[in-house]
Amino acid sequence: MIREILRMGDPRLLEVSQPVTAFGTPELDALLADMRETMVARKGAGLAAPQIGVGARVVIFGMDYNPRYPNARPVPYTELINPVLTPLGDALEEGWEGCLSVPGMRGVVPRYAALRYSGFDPRGEPIDREVDGFHARVVQHECDHLDGILYPMRMRDLSRFGFTDILFPGMRDEDD
Ligand code: NI
Repeated sequence: MIREILRMGDPRLLEVSQPVTAFGTPELDALLADMRETMVARKGAGLAAPQIGVGARVVIFGMDYNPRYPNARPVPYTELINPVLTPLGDALEEGWEGCLSVPGMRGVVPRYAALRYSGFDPRGEPIDREVDGFHARVVQHECDHLDGILYPMRMRDLSRFGFTDILFPGMRDEDD
């Protein structure tokens, strides 16, 4: 079922989400099915459970070609539960981000250029990857949602925050 996405200003987006304690359950499968359907319908690159009002440490992300991010390399579709992020080095990279909870806008956000992430898949099997580039950016963005952090809260230069159609004429966020 396509779920309503909470938008910035909703206090539920600022809460710290709780770890998942039971894997392979119908409830978890139903949550992930709704998240996947909602992300696809809105053409997002990722979605975190709190964005649909569920305070659980569950994120999904993945992208083939996405017109919202025309220059990004593909990211494999991943369902990640109880994630732990460990930066690889101190290097930060700036890049444009959008968020389905901040519709119609983009901003430049500094993120760790490379990181290791671990966690579990929906069956409770471990996931452990080292990534960089857009993959690393998406993971950091989605996992921030689990701690109540939206990307504008990470920005250092608000002069590079604005409306997508003004910043990037010709680019359309059809659902934003
Ligand atoms: Ni987001």
